[in-house]
Amino acid sequence: MDIPRQPGIETAQLLLRPLSPGDAADVQRLAGDPAVAATTRNIPHPYPDGAAEAFIAHTREQAEHGVAYTFAMVERARAQLVGCVGLRLEPPDRRAELGYWVGVPHWGRGFATEGAVAALRFAFGPLGLNRVFATALTRNPASARVMQKAGLRYEGTLREHIVKDGVPEDLVMYGLVRAEYPAG
Ligand SMILES: CC(C)(COP(=O)(O)OP(=O)(O)OC[C@H]1O[C@@H](n2cnc3c(N)ncnc32)[C@H](O)[C@@H]1OP(=O)(O)O)[C@@H](O)C(=O)NCCC(=O)NCCS
Repeated sequence: MDIPRQPGIETAQLLLRPLSPGDAADVQRLAGDPAVAATTRNIPHPYPDGAAEAFIAHTREQAEHGVAYTFAMVERARAQLVGCVGLRLEPPDRRAELGYWVGVPHWGRGFATEGAVAALRFAFGPLGLNRVFATALTRNPASARVMQKAGLRYEGTLREHIVKDGVPEDLVMYGLVRAEYPAG
């Protein structure tokens, strides 16, 4: 099967594009904020030097193999990176997990929602997926709100599904299937 190329996607406020090595300093500064690490799974804190470069190289390799697509979210008006949104594919089930983070100075401006909506369009369009799901810590209502605003539906709570920093934590799961996708 052909591996879809990762596109650039424009939304009202954002350009979504692949990360490039020149984004490393911005990623380190924004993802290095403890408030971003506090509610995410794979962002370390403290954020070590070199981790952003490694993360960016990894995202480019994953996109080449069609296993995951991570987009830099760039605020078009200021040409500045404000966060990332991505899809991790699970091809046998034609589904992907949606994930995102936004730098603290940029919270509350709709960026995560816009990025999620654009990622869904890519997932149900060029990627031809059947389902997109996302999870968030129960104590992260802003992320659940993003999922709701992007059109995902609440599917349940996974009790103590992960152990974060030694503490078992509940997750909420949201999902959207092709049949109920508005453009599907
Ligand atoms: C969660 C996160 C991505 C939201 O990004 P954002 O760009 O601020 O999101 P948006 O502006 O699109 O939407 C945020 C919504 O959450 C709401 N919200 C914010 N804090 C909230 C809270 N404590 N309780 C309930 N809703 C909250 C906002 O009011 C807004 O909803 P509204 O438009 O109905 O008012 C961002 O806070 C973040 O990156 N957090 C750290 C990393 C993270 O948790 N990533 C997600 C992992 S699952």
